[in-house]
Amino acid sequence: FWGWQAVIVAAAVSLPLGYTQGKEYAELEWPIDILIAVVWVAYAVLFFGTIARRKVKHIYVANWFYGAYILTIALLHIVNNISMPAGGMKSYSAYSGAVDAMVQWWYGHNAVGFFLTAGFLGMMYYYVPKQAGRPIYSYRLSIVHFWALIAVYMWAGPHHLQYTALPDWAQSVGMVFSLILLAPSWGGAINGIMTLSGVWHKLRTDPILKFLIVALSFYMIATFEGPMMSIKTVNSLSHYTDWTVGHVHAGALGWVAMISIGSIYALLPKLLGRETMHSVKLIDTHFWVHTLGVVFYIAAMWIAGVMQGLMWRATNPDGTLTYTFVEALNATYPYYLGRLFGGLLVLGGMLLMAWNVWQTYRDAAIQPVDQPVLPPAASDARA
Ligand code: HEM
Repeated sequence: FWGWQAVIVAAAVSLPLGYTQGKEYAELEWPIDILIAVVWVAYAVLFFGTIARRKVKHIYVANWFYGAYILTIALLHIVNNISMPAGGMKSYSAYSGAVDAMVQWWYGHNAVGFFLTAGFLGMMYYYVPKQAGRPIYSYRLSIVHFWALIAVYMWAGPHHLQYTALPDWAQSVGMVFSLILLAPSWGGAINGIMTLSGVWHKLRTDPILKFLIVALSFYMIATFEGPMMSIKTVNSLSHYTDWTVGHVHAGALGWVAMISIGSIYALLPKLLGRETMHSVKLIDTHFWVHTLGVVFYIAAMWIAGVMQGLMWRATNPDGTLTYTFVEALNATYPYYLGRLFGGLLVLGGMLLMAWNVWQTYRDAAIQPVDQPVLPPAASDARA
């Protein structure tokens, strides 16, 4: 915990001072990278140590996703950051030119796949069945989902480098694997949603389930849109525009945030020995405010992005550009206001959550609930 806080403080200080490796999502300089590696190894030891000391033989699929996320992030972080230090806060990457770009986006895309997806799928496989009170729809599908996702994600990185100096065949490989990736992504999401078979009515009354299931819907939106954007002709329009920003936030605010929020609402009362959060009605309000916020945000960015792409590529009969860059920027302003509005709704929802969490802690402090004390297992006894 303290190691990770130290990483965040080091990032907050070093980046404004201008210390950066110049790699997207991997900006931090080598001493901080080493600290991240140490913290991550500590995390891996804790996680796999706990798995090793388990009392049941079976390892539930949620833990497979968590384990893959921890191992893969370690691999990505170390390989992408291999560099030659040239002073306390300066280094040169071990890779150069197109190879550097390829390693960077192998890292970048798998960061999306494992940092922003695999761990959250682990949460999905635990909390959706728990909250629905049903076993996962198909355990067999969850295993196929796991291996297919792991196998395919690794090859899709070049879709971030369409029409660059990367060899054309590598760009096409990235595009094809991205299209294939639609199948395991949707397979996993459908597995989660179908877990509600027979208990769909719970969606009417349980706002935590609403969070979890709508998170999966946004996951399906992002993982349908991503493969489409990786098609070269589509990418020639979407790249550099706010369409990419819309896609990112369907993933970040829709999928990642909502599955986390739902999981926290499900977990917190149990941690504090309470039946529910302080106000279930407020969870429902949060759900609607958040969902509307994300929809406003991503719709504004989609429309702005397509408009920008079309304006940038429009030409007059004599071959000159129809619009200047500033004209396209001017036309985007109303959509930025839509984005601001959506973002404020999301922020407002988080404030509601903060209040609800605080009140739940207060309730727990005022009326402590007896925790069941389990008898120690005989097998734990040591001489
Ligand atoms: C099947 C799954 C997915 C595919 C094939 C995919 C594909 C893509 C493509 C083609 C781009 C645009 C690249 C460019 O033109 O620069 C992109 C950008 C991005 N995607 Fe996805 N995406 C997927 C799922 C997701 C999810 C679930 C998230 C978030 C949780 C996400 C986060 C991002 C981010 C952060 C970027 C911006 C990268 C940058 O900084 O340029 N993607 N994705």
